[in-house]
Amino acid sequence: MADRVLVFYGSYRSDRMGIRLADYIVAGLQARGEDAELIDAKAVGLPMLDRMYKEYPSGSAPQALEALASKIRAADAFVFVTGEYNWGVQPGLKNLTDHFLEEWFWRPAAIASYSAGRIAGARSALHWHGTLSEMGMIVISSTLTVGPIAQALGADGKPFGEAGQLLERSFFRFADDLAWWTEAAKMQRARKAPPY
Ligand SMILES: Cc1cc2nc3c(=O)[nH]c(=O)nc-3n(C[C@H](O)[C@H](O)[C@H](O)COP(=O)(O)O)c2cc1C
Repeated sequence: MADRVLVFYGSYRSDRMGIRLADYIVAGLQARGEDAELIDAKAVGLPMLDRMYKEYPSGSAPQALEALASKIRAADAFVFVTGEYNWGVQPGLKNLTDHFLEEWFWRPAAIASYSAGRIAGARSALHWHGTLSEMGMIVISSTLTVGPIAQALGADGKPFGEAGQLLERSFFRFADDLAWWTEAAKMQRARKAPPY
């Protein structure tokens, strides 16, 4: 059965570039037979964190929060597509993730970073590694690093040139590793119900 993979992306900029990488990953996972869906924080449009999802009495959370909580709970794995703002994470994606906690537990997460330059968002990926671990995900060791993103992916999310070829080669290993950990976590959840 196909794995249900949510691909998170969180830039709110009008001229955002990272959507190219998010689209590429969703298409690549779907081509491998996975049930992948883009979760675009800008489209979800959560306000700045007031109450976490779990702080709402049952059935009273705003609809967007309720719908996203259901999707996160039903997912087998996550991919976080992370750009870098001033050596840090993008606030839109961080704000979205902070609305949840237990909903993330017991599933693997993979980090794909990018930037306009050659560092490819690596500093933001480092921040996300600790954050996702803190939120109860198994952060896999394979990463994707894409930079400069404009030299690797076209507006249609298709790779081109030397950097695009490098991305294609890296994606193969990245997706394999994620699938391995997804299967492992799925089997363990089926064998032994998570304690919380
Ligand atoms: C506020 C801001 C801060 C940035 N800081 C960094 C940075 O620290 N390192 C970097 O490599 N690129 C930085 N950039 C350039 C981004 O990598 C580039 O604009 C990228 O396309 C941002 O992702 P987005 O287009 O999906 O929003 C910054 C861009 C913005 C708008």
